[in-house]
Amino acid sequence: MDVINLDELQPLAKEKLPQMIYDYIAGGAEDGISMAENETAFGRIQFRPRMMVDVSQQNLSTEVLGDKINLPIMLAPTALHRLVHEEGELATARGAHAQGTVMTLSTVASQSIEDVAAETESPKWFQLYCFKDRDASKFLVERVEAQGFKAICLTVDTPRMGRREADLRNGFHLPPGIEIKNFDTYEKFKDIEPELRSTMVAAFVNMMFENALTWKDIEWLRSITKLPILLKGILTREDAALAVKHGVDGIIVSNHGGRQLDGVPATIEALPEVVEAVSGKAEVFMDGGIRRGSDVLKALALGAKAVMIGRPYVWGLALNGEAGVKRVLSILQEELEIAMALAGCPTIADIDSSFVQMRKN
Ligand code: FNR
Ligand code: LAC
Repeated sequence: MDVINLDELQPLAKEKLPQMIYDYIAGGAEDGISMAENETAFGRIQFRPRMMVDVSQQNLSTEVLGDKINLPIMLAPTALHRLVHEEGELATARGAHAQGTVMTLSTVASQSIEDVAAETESPKWFQLYCFKDRDASKFLVERVEAQGFKAICLTVDTPRMGRREADLRNGFHLPPGIEIKNFDTYEKFKDIEPELRSTMVAAFVNMMFENALTWKDIEWLRSITKLPILLKGILTREDAALAVKHGVDGIIVSNHGGRQLDGVPATIEALPEVVEAVSGKAEVFMDGGIRRGSDVLKALALGAKAVMIGRPYVWGLALNGEAGVKRVLSILQEELEIAMALAGCPTIADIDSSFVQMRKN
């Protein structure tokens, strides 16, 4: 996998993957406006670099929810890694471990919580979808806690699946041998799962995911776990304030990579109002459109504690398994290191909003 930046990955992955799978990963909802905006919005932010700063001792490490990571870039939860690589989430976990950062395991993973937990010792987070059958969510949360995961990221932007037209055209379904793995031992899903194996992920989501999730459910989640709770998918100051009021530990500003409501702003543009509303009472993260180390620097300057990447590491996984995931992280790390040096920020703690401005035209 001979690439020098993240944009080179996608065309290579496109050549390698079956079209139905490539389209599922690459796709956004409807017109893909928010998906595209996530990337282009970074171009509207400019740096205000400071010169004559000693950057001979650079340090990119930081802390997220009390755990040290080597770089402020984590892996966002993405579904079904075995769609793109035989070793699936296990290879992803090793790639994150090799680079010293957090992987977030999806509810819709193709390998089990236990197997992924056993693969590496690095801190891992778990992304939770709330099921209509609350016992199904509890079944996951208990296992995640028992396996030593460090946080639960409750995704709140998916009461139903966004309309992804490529998937509809392709009749996206799970190829033989690939399963949503975490329910093998859940009695109540025993009858339903074989049938869902061959249907679209959208059918699973729309049938099983809670579409009546409200703020009250944070109390329910709090009552079944001691782990830190993050909400993934917050885009407004109003919801950020409610999240803080309900005692969450963190917020991930996200529009699901433009896969849910098309027409929402780029996440980098939603970030400042969330940071302001949270006002230090929870840790704020963001994902969506991060393709350069300089994008990471912009997000941190606007108040994110760290960022997450989605599609780029999935392409890396598709092209070269564990090494591909590691390579994606290491390219971003090197780019970030250079951007920080050129901006005059030797460490993460030096980054603040004085390093960015909005483009004037
Ligand atoms: C996702 N995302 C996602 N989010 C989530 O909470 N649970 C999930 O299972 C998935 N699955 C998923 C699959 C695929 C193929 C993609 C591309 C995305 C959204 C993901 O966590 C993240 O928000 C975006 O991918 C970030 O945007 P970028 O980095 O892909 O631009
Ligand atoms: C997706 C779901 C599974 O974005 O989160 O495909």
